[in-house]
Amino acid sequence: GGQPIPKPIKDTSLKLVNDKKHPWKPLRAGDQRGPCPGLNALASHGWLPRSGVATPGEIVTAVQNGYNMEWTRAVLVTYAAFLVNGNPLTNLLSIGGMSWLTGHAPPPPALASGLNTHGTFEGDASLTRSDAFLGDNHSFNETLFQQLIDISNKVGGGKYNVSAAAEMRFQRVQDSIARNPNFNFANPRFNTAFIEAVFPIVFFIDGRLQEAGETGLDLDVMRGFFQDHRMPKDFHRRGTPTGASDSELDFVMAAHDYVPGFNNGSGTFVADPNFMGTQTETVCALYEKFVNSTVSLYPSPHGDLRKALNKNLDNFYVAVESRCDQIKPYH
Ligand code: HEM
Ligand code: MG
Repeated sequence: GGQPIPKPIKDTSLKLVNDKKHPWKPLRAGDQRGPCPGLNALASHGWLPRSGVATPGEIVTAVQNGYNMEWTRAVLVTYAAFLVNGNPLTNLLSIGGMSWLTGHAPPPPALASGLNTHGTFEGDASLTRSDAFLGDNHSFNETLFQQLIDISNKVGGGKYNVSAAAEMRFQRVQDSIARNPNFNFANPRFNTAFIEAVFPIVFFIDGRLQEAGETGLDLDVMRGFFQDHRMPKDFHRRGTPTGASDSELDFVMAAHDYVPGFNNGSGTFVADPNFMGTQTETVCALYEKFVNSTVSLYPSPHGDLRKALNKNLDNFYVAVESRCDQIKPYH
């Protein structure tokens, strides 16, 4: 159980990715799509299996090929998600809901139920998906997208740029504080929510436009990715491998005051005193959080299951090994 991480891709040049070999196709019965527009579009263009069920290795390679996501970041996000939402026995993850294609799941409390699973990776205050408490946490929500369009028109000159990202991120958090008594904005969601607000600017703007200095995402293109899992005609990926850049993340986080925490069930937002866990660096706190979640899902694994979990935990650690001490819950 557990497979090695594929090596970084060699050709990281700007190039056509909505090509003849990767046409958009409509969904078939049973195909899984979920809360992540990046992965949804890769599946609908055949860069990932069109079923929406994939191995972590396939995901690491597809996000590099399709968007030029930098290998280390791809490894971090993919194995974080795989540990909490994937099936370690079959090495398969649904990018949406439960699917028979992921095979026989390990016994409870393990879930192996896909990226739609609330409260593991998927969380509150998403840009275009509702909070689980308030509705559907994985499908495109037109009301929210209209809000995003309004904000982009007001502060982004009609495009989704960092200013629009900053406003949308803030309004989504305010809305969740006001209306979702279960709102959780603690680690890891406190980190992923900002990263995801920046991803569309980093990865969905055509690489040729980016090299010409474009910093805003066209809203029709954005809708294509978010609603239809579809890349625009002739879409070229960016020309350099990257993740959410620090400058853009810092801008979005600094635009308003944010505190990691949660609503306490009676309409009061309270700070999370244990935000950093035992760590001093944010990325290590995120790493620790996902390891702890994994242990709650697999309290005492044996045999092949334990082997697979250890392999996937080792793979996850590769993404942070230069900065964090390894946590080895099963050694
Ligand atoms: C959201 C997983 C890569 C763009 C999400 C969510 C998950 C997820 C679970 C839901 C979080 C939430 O909003 O509650 C992953 C995994 C990846 C990956 C496992 C593997 C590397 C990417 C890439 C892109 C991307 C490469 C862009 C090209 C987004 C965006 C959202 C999101 C924009 C926020 C959607 C919204 O708030 O409406 N992702 N993602 N992701 N992902 Fe990904
Ligand atoms: Mg969400």
